[in-house]
Amino acid sequence: MTDLSQLEAEISGRVAQAADLAALDAVRVSALGKSGSISELLKTLGAMSPDERRERGPQINGLRDRVGQAIAARKAELEAAELDARLAAERVDLSLPAPPARRGRVHPTMQVMDEMIAIFADMGFGLAEGPDIEDDFHNFTALNFPPKHPAREMHDTFWLPEDANGERKLLRTHTSPVQVRVMQQANGKLPSWIAAGQAPPIRVVIPGRVYRSDSDATHTPMFHQLEGLVIDRTIHMGHLKWTLDAFTRRFFETEAVVTRFRPHHFPFTEPSAEMDVQCDRSGGAVKIGEGSDWLEILGGGMVHPNVLRNCGLDPDEWQGFAFGLGVDRLGMLKYGMPDLRDMFAGDPRWLAHYGFSAFAAPNPATGLS
Ligand code: DAH
Repeated sequence: MTDLSQLEAEISGRVAQAADLAALDAVRVSALGKSGSISELLKTLGAMSPDERRERGPQINGLRDRVGQAIAARKAELEAAELDARLAAERVDLSLPAPPARRGRVHPTMQVMDEMIAIFADMGFGLAEGPDIEDDFHNFTALNFPPKHPAREMHDTFWLPEDANGERKLLRTHTSPVQVRVMQQANGKLPSWIAAGQAPPIRVVIPGRVYRSDSDATHTPMFHQLEGLVIDRTIHMGHLKWTLDAFTRRFFETEAVVTRFRPHHFPFTEPSAEMDVQCDRSGGAVKIGEGSDWLEILGGGMVHPNVLRNCGLDPDEWQGFAFGLGVDRLGMLKYGMPDLRDMFAGDPRWLAHYGFSAFAAPNPATGLS
């Protein structure tokens, strides 16, 4: 007959030695499982005489209960130890310094655009935008570029493949096509997906990306322009000159700016002019309002009667001025960036150096930069 106390001692020893939950479960199966040692003993009760059963029954059942309790106790112990180990391993050291937070910067072009828009908004200009993918009519024809005129080639246009209607769209070479869209809308010829309320008098600025197949230190295939358009009954060249002079002084944040207008030719204005800013470019940095250099910053003029007519406005009733300035170039001048190509190279070190804090929103009332 099996010696119960010897069996109990043996099982208790294995329970105490079980190093983990898997080992403990193996002990449980070997003792209390279907054909475990204690289960086998329980099965022998059926074949015993009633007297014998009365004596052995409580002993074997007692053994089963105590072994069950010992296993449960050891299980709780092992589980607690396992949890302790995990907590120790996964501990977070709150005294460690936090990893540096990566802070975004506002690109100088966007900052400069916001500065320009803030200045013009303060002068009473509204805002309009148009599509980057344009058609020949808006980019050239309506703007009085004669068909086959070399000026079309001068713009180094990126043409798109012919579409299903045999039409070749293009990436706009300037923001001037949006003038056309604004005037067409003013004439009621276009749905109002452009800025609302543009019936003459018109006073808008039009910021946007433009594209030309060109690349050197002062040219990139994509760059930014800000177009201006003012149409009313008695607007003349003097208004253009004052507006641009006033803008330039506010933009460069000095009264010392000296500007000069040079006669020029654009198909869409007559007369046309280019405006230069006096500056000193000796010694690396650019100083505005002194020196003997003149930097061209914009083109402008009186909107050509043909353009007004092409947009459905009667040139005997309406007249006005337009201008287009290079946003990135003005940014280079104001903030001293030597190479235009760096602006769009996507180097985070460049942006960390030249970029702006998102909290530095330009406000003409409190200072722009
Ligand atoms: N569209 C011209 C360019 O990209 C700039 C320009 C000149 C715009 C004269 C105008 C303007 O509105 O009147 O070179």
